[in-house]
Amino acid sequence: MEGELDVSGSKNASLPIIAATILNKGTTVIQNVPEIRDVKMMCSILESLGCKITKEEGTLIVDAKSIINSEIPDDLMHEMRSSVIIAGALLGRLHECKFTYPGGCEIGSRPINLHLEGFKQLGVGIDEANGFIKCECEKLIGTEIVLDFPSVGATENIMLASCLAEGTTYIKNVAREPEIRNLQDFLNAMGANVAGAGSNTIVIKGVKTLHDAEFSIIPDRIEAGTYLCMAAATKGDVKLNHVNAEHLSSVIHKLKQMNCKIGFSKNSIYLKVPRELIGTNIKTMPYPGFPTDMQSQFVTLLTLARGTSIVVENIFENRYKYVNELIKMGANITIEGKAAIIQGVPKLSPANLEAKELRGGAALIMAALTAEGESKVTGIEYVERGYENLVKKLTIVGAKIQKA
Ligand code: UD1
Repeated sequence: MEGELDVSGSKNASLPIIAATILNKGTTVIQNVPEIRDVKMMCSILESLGCKITKEEGTLIVDAKSIINSEIPDDLMHEMRSSVIIAGALLGRLHECKFTYPGGCEIGSRPINLHLEGFKQLGVGIDEANGFIKCECEKLIGTEIVLDFPSVGATENIMLASCLAEGTTYIKNVAREPEIRNLQDFLNAMGANVAGAGSNTIVIKGVKTLHDAEFSIIPDRIEAGTYLCMAAATKGDVKLNHVNAEHLSSVIHKLKQMNCKIGFSKNSIYLKVPRELIGTNIKTMPYPGFPTDMQSQFVTLLTLARGTSIVVENIFENRYKYVNELIKMGANITIEGKAAIIQGVPKLSPANLEAKELRGGAALIMAALTAEGESKVTGIEYVERGYENLVKKLTIVGAKIQKA
């Protein structure tokens, strides 16, 4: 891969921020929104609730003056588990919401107990019957909530639910991901009073009402990290623009350990692989630790690095499904519980591969880019959930890739 790429707006920041627009009985403008399937699904949910949405080249205008429905459609809830984030926004706006239990998915069981526990503590009554969860309250009352685990979704959902609550909410042991900070900034731009994102505790002083706002989404650190891995795997030389390198420090640290040469200029990162890649060990952790969303791309990269590497997945229990596909290509990987033990091989062979989820799918495309000869990757709709214009972007930097 050689050349320059522009990184899109963050998927994981866009989803809760789009959900949060419901809290404002007016019009909100969001810029730098990626055109990806998950964003489209989030917009469809909002439309089903009564919002009017216009989209023009990365700018989303949400008119949430009239919300006529408090139920998240079953099919959209099933398609995208993160749609549960709408629940907090609906509770804040209408004091009620109804949705189906999200259930398991390809990367793990994805429970929502921490979300529901948080809602309960804010005074919400929760009724679970026949696969439906119904949440209702007279009013939301600020309180102290301690999360058992710094869940990203639970932190965001509780933030959304408590913006318009009576009194002050303290959420402790929160997730510290940059997307949480972006959400805080957006809520404050609409007139909320939220502080502490990036630390262990978020404090939300309830306000009576929010107002119209215009806001820009942060760059997608996982998209950027994926392209850095792809460049490293193909012994490339790339420059990524519209990046926040601070959000990528754990990823950059590992790439440097693997022998990649990395440089920075304002909002850009350069990567070059002057020598061979060297193996390293990685443990996924909540931010600022190494992101689970970069695990599959790194396992794939480590497959092509000298020596033995060990990767431990601590966040999701079922995130190695793509590994069997890599083994088909000649990778030497053994899975033992949470650990992947990777013995580097000189190259991978082309194969027909099946993507079963977003990041694992991106990792398979990356493996296919390194293999001499033609590989076919099916299940590309999973990858399109999170990567804007993937084929176009990879073509710009010299990949021979096309969508059949
Ligand atoms: C978000 C990201 C996802 C990322 C993940 C971890 C979005 C849209 N998705 O997902 O890309 O991989 O953070 O960085 O932002 N858990 C519970 N109970 C709960 C909630 C979570 O046990 O109520 C567990 C999960 O099973 C998992 C861990 O906590 O093991 C982390 O999940 P969480 O941080 O909530 O991830 P998501 O918000 O679903």
